[in-house]
Amino acid sequence: MVKICCLGAGYVGGPTMAVIALKCPDAEVVVVDISTARIDAWNSDTLPIYEPGLDDVVKQCRGRNLFFSNDLEKHVSEADIIFVSVNTPTKTRGLGAGKAADLTYWESAARMIADVAKSDKIVVEKSTVPVKTAEAIEKILAHNSNGINFQILSNPEFLAEGTAIKDLFSPDRVLIGGRETPEGRKAVQALKDVYAHWVPEEKILTTNLWSAELSKLAANAFLAQRISSVNAMSALCEATGANVAEVAYAVGKDSRIGPKFLNASVGFGGSCFQKDILNLVYICECNGLPEVASYWKQVIKINDYQKSRFVNRVVSSMFNTVAGKKIAMLGFAFKKDTGDTRETPAIDVCKGLLGDKAKISIYDPQVTEDQIQRDLAMSKFDWDHPVHLQPMSPTAIKQVSVTWDAYEAAKDAHGICILTEWDEFKTLDYTRIYESMQKPAFVFDGRNIVDAEKLREIGFIVYSIGKPL
Ligand code: NAD
Ligand code: UGA
Repeated sequence: MVKICCLGAGYVGGPTMAVIALKCPDAEVVVVDISTARIDAWNSDTLPIYEPGLDDVVKQCRGRNLFFSNDLEKHVSEADIIFVSVNTPTKTRGLGAGKAADLTYWESAARMIADVAKSDKIVVEKSTVPVKTAEAIEKILAHNSNGINFQILSNPEFLAEGTAIKDLFSPDRVLIGGRETPEGRKAVQALKDVYAHWVPEEKILTTNLWSAELSKLAANAFLAQRISSVNAMSALCEATGANVAEVAYAVGKDSRIGPKFLNASVGFGGSCFQKDILNLVYICECNGLPEVASYWKQVIKINDYQKSRFVNRVVSSMFNTVAGKKIAMLGFAFKKDTGDTRETPAIDVCKGLLGDKAKISIYDPQVTEDQIQRDLAMSKFDWDHPVHLQPMSPTAIKQVSVTWDAYEAAKDAHGICILTEWDEFKTLDYTRIYESMQKPAFVFDGRNIVDAEKLREIGFIVYSIGKPL
């Protein structure tokens, strides 16, 4: 029986290991974390993350061949394959602040592995890391081990939140990078054997270590670039009377471009796109490639522009002032079907409107009031000027209320901002909402999910992204 241990029980470690345990009944999978609260939640009826289909998978395997534990050292020392799926956020201070990946968690995981290992191990980079990280990890492991053989593999994860289980069940590809030595090839084969339990062989790609590490950053950069491209077009559409949905459809019909990931929006969010592109920018700068760095930086600048454009449009269309006006936010998570709020555009939109003295009422089906208050109270980290942190004033925070009901959020409001594309927002009773609001009643659809014409018939003034008024 192959023994697998994963360091990091987060959005990636938890679902990924649950699916490996489900598909490989002959493996024992233990997920460990330094956070006791996270492990307790994984062992309870309320899992620490909301992800469609995850509960079912965990229920089928937990206690059989899937375990969650705080005993890191025991499980690391017993494992044959160790996945490292710890967080790799952007550095907020010191060299590379605002861009470089902070590898503190990764390094401490590697040192712990070196300290407790008593037999040969395959160490798998699951976290997204800068290209060449495997080299640094090899050095740490080699210097601290007593003749133990460590093979490092890069096996980046491509799942998206909200569809993690579906993505893990049928991935577009699984990527494994390893050393081109006999030991390296043997380690790659051992990891291939795990995935081969359910992933067709032609979808398991093997490369050298650096290609695998860089492919992950490249894939996220390409995906985010598509969104910034369509969002840039949305601004031009608004200025010219073109409709961004029609433009995106026509462009996406070209089979070389394809139809996916072309939805104009208030901006992309999530813990990874911005962080990974900044990391890529930093790597380019360090490698003497400033032109390449500034090309990718522009993807983030357009995203920031799109978020502030949205706020400006709300304020300017509501007669240039939102002071004292109640504005309802429908959705706070960075996308539908997740409760994750990391880097959600909703934070920037709320802060922008609070800065103009609006009163804000927020409803999201999966995000708690505590989480929203924490997100809004946190200093905004400005990647472009990392030394200037902008704290939110306590007076502004008092202007925020959170409800568990969309109708309650909209009652007496002057405007509604749709910030997450939750399906339930498409079928709300907008006549009822209109009747309960101040007039004129505005809708700013940051996700282009409502039928603007129908809402206009009810009486709303509707602004969509990149569409004629
Ligand atoms: P997360 O913050 O949800 O989880 C990381 C976990 O690692 C935390 O629970 C933390 O307590 C734990 N941890 C930190 N240091 C540790 C240590 N030394 N030992 C054991 N546990 C430790 O992060 P995440 O969203 O799961 O992302 C993890 C990595 O995967 C990141 O590099 C991210 O870029 C990448 N990634 C994320 C996604 C996604 O959708 N969230 C998708 C693909 C790749
Ligand atoms: C993204 C990638 O899609 C995954 O492949 C990758 O593994 C992951 O990042 C990661 O490395 O963390 P995720 O951020 O979970 O996944 O979700 P996406 O579906 O990519 O959405 C990201 C953001 O872009 C969301 O705010 C979403 O609303 C926005 N988006 C997406 C748009 O605005 N328009 C689109 O057409 C698509």
